[in-house]
Amino acid sequence: MKNKLDILLRDVNTAAVICSQWGDTGKGKIVDLFADWADVIARGTGADNAGHTIWVKGKKYVMHLIPSGILRDGDGKTNIIGSGVAVNPRVVLEEMAMLSEAGLSYDHLMIALNAKLILPQHILLDRLRESKSGKIGTTGRGVGPVYADHYARQGLIVNDMLNPDSFRKKFLRNLKEKMVLFTEYDPVLIQELMHHEHLEKGQFFSDGIGIFDVEAIVERYAEYGRLLRDLISDTDTFMKRIVGTKKILLEGAQGTMLSVDHGSYPFVTSSDCTDQGLAHGVGLKDKHIDLVLNIAKAFYMTRVGGGPFPTEIGGHASADWCAEVGVTKGVEKDNYPFATVNSQQDFLQGIAIRMAGEEYGATTGRPRRVGWLDLPVLRYATRQCGKDVILTKLDVLSSCEAIKICYSYQYDGEPFNYGDETFKAGDMIGVAVPFAEVMEKCGPVYAVFPGWCCDISDVREYDDLPEPLRAIIAFIEDRAKVSVRIVSVGADRDATIIR
Ligand code: GDP
Ligand code: IMO
Ligand code: MG
Repeated sequence: MKNKLDILLRDVNTAAVICSQWGDTGKGKIVDLFADWADVIARGTGADNAGHTIWVKGKKYVMHLIPSGILRDGDGKTNIIGSGVAVNPRVVLEEMAMLSEAGLSYDHLMIALNAKLILPQHILLDRLRESKSGKIGTTGRGVGPVYADHYARQGLIVNDMLNPDSFRKKFLRNLKEKMVLFTEYDPVLIQELMHHEHLEKGQFFSDGIGIFDVEAIVERYAEYGRLLRDLISDTDTFMKRIVGTKKILLEGAQGTMLSVDHGSYPFVTSSDCTDQGLAHGVGLKDKHIDLVLNIAKAFYMTRVGGGPFPTEIGGHASADWCAEVGVTKGVEKDNYPFATVNSQQDFLQGIAIRMAGEEYGATTGRPRRVGWLDLPVLRYATRQCGKDVILTKLDVLSSCEAIKICYSYQYDGEPFNYGDETFKAGDMIGVAVPFAEVMEKCGPVYAVFPGWCCDISDVREYDDLPEPLRAIIAFIEDRAKVSVRIVSVGADRDATIIR
């Protein structure tokens, strides 16, 4: 495999691994694999809303902020949390502790001094907004509010933790306007949320009118600053210096359909998850990237939280079930022991695929909504970000007798003006339109393929994959005009086929 990886990455100095869907496609696994090739691995977008899973020799690691290349720190690889990332310092410290406990080092970890700093008020505001109708289904990590503050020129950065007096001034200025917003919410709910583990179980709560114990927060962030100081530096300048001479691997977070600029708005996150946003978030330009690899989960895909999902298996019933609090794999097993990946009823089939693929959020534990592979989404994402594709999780549907691939949408809504076009009921739409109000009126048109019905998890050569499976990949390549460069047949580093 190493030889094939070298061939794929020949003449490449900077590569980016991003997701073409709604996240959770296996970026962690692929970045960990490619990290062997790279000198530097950098995150440039998102926050600890991300959950990137890596399996090595039967042991599982989940990284939220530190790049997935960190398992190669011992080999001298540098890992960077870039300036486009929103950083909760508590989470970085927890991940460092987790690595130490596992006997792994983080000696070459760097954090951008100008990365956005997540504050307790961001987390509270995020969670309060999610308590109202019209919620997005966020991860509750403060992501929307922190990026909003950045663009409103009210944000703080990681470096502010190193200067407590100026931190206090900026913190109070930032809090002032938010206090007005907090008056709209039930004080009992505020008190409850301030005791959430992500708000340090009440340690930042002040029972008076101010909600926040300012001195406790200033002190804690100064402590974080002291603990992290050796890692904090001007990584944008570092990246500009090494680009073109060192092997750089950029690790995307979330996915193109969750991009604030290109995704299914408003059901998106708050950074630009495309290659462009990623390059910018590490201090580079997208022209610096020689190879962009777009991951697509296949032949099913997932989405967590609210928003349109045209190919969702089980439709609204499935979405509602996944939105219920407390649905876990155990609950699904107990309630639907008879569900199989071949169930005739879509709702049950969706549950069985979720269980087979272990599709429960790496960050929140929420059940991920499950749908069939959506080529209008793949066409849209690869038009934005390039045509090289990695398919992951092919092993999950090995016992499925029929595989559906959505090759087009049929619009079924009121006439909708989209620039100089008008979508009318009955229109076929071949490329996803990144507006939730259009996507939610799109029904899938499927091609149905026979499954391959045998275990493929030990296959390591493309030509050894069963013919029915290769026929589906050929269909995808032909109909979406993409090149499938890698397929993944298991969670472990080695369960990968490079063409
Ligand atoms: P990320 O956010 O894109 O890094 O993806 P997540 O880690 O949130 O979710 C992907 C899940 O699929 C993780 O549990 C991975 O260990 C797992 N995974 C990745 N590739 C494969 C694969 O090819 N087959 C199987 N069965 N699991 C995979
Ligand atoms: P990785 O990197 C899947 C989703 C949330 C919600 C929306 C907004 O592991 O693929 P936010 O907390 O960002 O304001 O939530 O975005 N979301 C993700 N879904 N994978 C992720 O990251 C996600 N990060 C955010 O579920 O719908
Ligand atoms: Mg994830």
